[in-house]
Amino acid sequence: MSELRLLPMAVRDLDEVLAIEQRAHLAPWTKGQLTDSLTAGNWAYVLRALGVDDAPDTLLGYCVLMPGVDDISLLNIAVDPSYQGQGYAKKMLLVMEDQAIAKNFLKLFLEVRASNAPAIGLYQKMHYQQVGIRKAYYPVHEAPREDALVMMKELVKP
Ligand SMILES: CC(C)(COP(=O)(O)OP(=O)(O)OC[C@H]1O[C@@H](n2cnc3c(N)ncnc32)[C@H](O)[C@@H]1OP(=O)(O)O)[C@@H](O)C(=O)NCCC(=O)NCCS
Repeated sequence: MSELRLLPMAVRDLDEVLAIEQRAHLAPWTKGQLTDSLTAGNWAYVLRALGVDDAPDTLLGYCVLMPGVDDISLLNIAVDPSYQGQGYAKKMLLVMEDQAIAKNFLKLFLEVRASNAPAIGLYQKMHYQQVGIRKAYYPVHEAPREDALVMMKELVKP
């Protein structure tokens, strides 16, 4: 039985975060970008499990959000490929939504690659809706650039 903890991301987490970032993403952030995400007033959190697979402490995933004036944007979310499909991204996002509501952010925006079926599946499951498209937004190695879907959810107090 494991115990989950969502904790503010710290500099000491960055090597582990970078390792997941490089395995999970098509175009991973650099260590510099991850470091910047800690210092720019963003919300950056890591999800850790104590006692999963007999390990004392395992980094499962992380997320980074950027607060705006009335709304907040999801800049990054990833779960270690070994632990995907177990509800961890949904758990992180639900906590972030609750925190955003508590701070009076009215909307949560995000951008996602048009081909990223797992992420789009996650956002649809959580009732995000497509509100726009950025044509040829993402560079793809030796291929035409890929569109970004802009998705949004109205955050409402329960
Ligand atoms: C997207 C990502 C964060 C999802 O993490 P996860 O922990 O596996 O997702 P969850 O287990 O919380 O899934 C929640 C819901 O998302 C949807 N989902 C998850 N994986 C899916 C897949 N491979 N295909 C379709 N839908 C999927 C499902 O609706 C799922 O609910 P269900 O299990 O009840 O059916 C993960 O795949 C990941 O890290 N991808 C690489 C990084 C990335 O692309 N981040 C998003 C950038 S915009």
